[in-house]
Amino acid sequence: MSEYDSRVEYHKWYYDTLVWEEVKFLGVPCYKSVSDMWNYQEILSELKPSLIVEFGTLFGGSALFFSMIGRSVNPDLRVLSVDISHENLEPKARADEAIRFLNVSSTDSTVVENIIELRAQTPGKTFFILDSDHRKAHVLAELESLREVVKPGDYVVVEDGNVNGNPVCPGWGEGPKEAVDAYFELYPDDYRFDKERESKFGFTFAPSGFLVRN
Ligand SMILES: C[S@@+](CC[C@H](N)C(=O)[O-])C[C@H]1O[C@@H](n2cnc3c(N)ncnc32)[C@H](O)[C@@H]1O
Repeated sequence: MSEYDSRVEYHKWYYDTLVWEEVKFLGVPCYKSVSDMWNYQEILSELKPSLIVEFGTLFGGSALFFSMIGRSVNPDLRVLSVDISHENLEPKARADEAIRFLNVSSTDSTVVENIIELRAQTPGKTFFILDSDHRKAHVLAELESLREVVKPGDYVVVEDGNVNGNPVCPGWGEGPKEAVDAYFELYPDDYRFDKERESKFGFTFAPSGFLVRN
């Protein structure tokens, strides 16, 4: 088996066994690839953002991760975590005072309003991570709504582009990766791909999803 095939097989094993649903950060579930989380930790330690914006909270494990890692490199960090429902949010994450939980759709106009307000309070770089409704139309709408608030040098991760046969879940339907492709057709100069990071650990849940704003 070639090295490429081995990585694809490991990716499929990681995804299809649902081990990602067993990932926990300090006891709070976090539905991610652990090597992606390490990649985010490395990005945050270099970027030192003052704001992290997450679409898709679920249990709050990822928001807690972003808050704790982010505050260790920038004590002034704030986190905005958006979800249509916070009924699964675990108390340990809810108790983190650096995180603002917003209970609306990620494409609601109040999200951009909150980002503008938080950016004004904590000037500096922002790290965005899109992990809510993974259908193409929704992810494209999220990226378009962020156009007015993402600034040069900010980092945007579009998660779960691995579905729809990229390489997991063939037949899932067009998802995040196809949304990124469509966005680049509309706005080819907005972002550059950070392929070095994307490929660093051999596989990622976010193919074509590591973006730096030009
Ligand atoms: C994959 S989970 C998020 C996982 C979490 N970020 C983590 O790493 O553990 C997706 C979440 O997106 C939320 N969601 C679905 N549609 C949404 C929308 N339109 N706006 C915001 N959140 C949405 C769901 O309620 C769900 O909690």
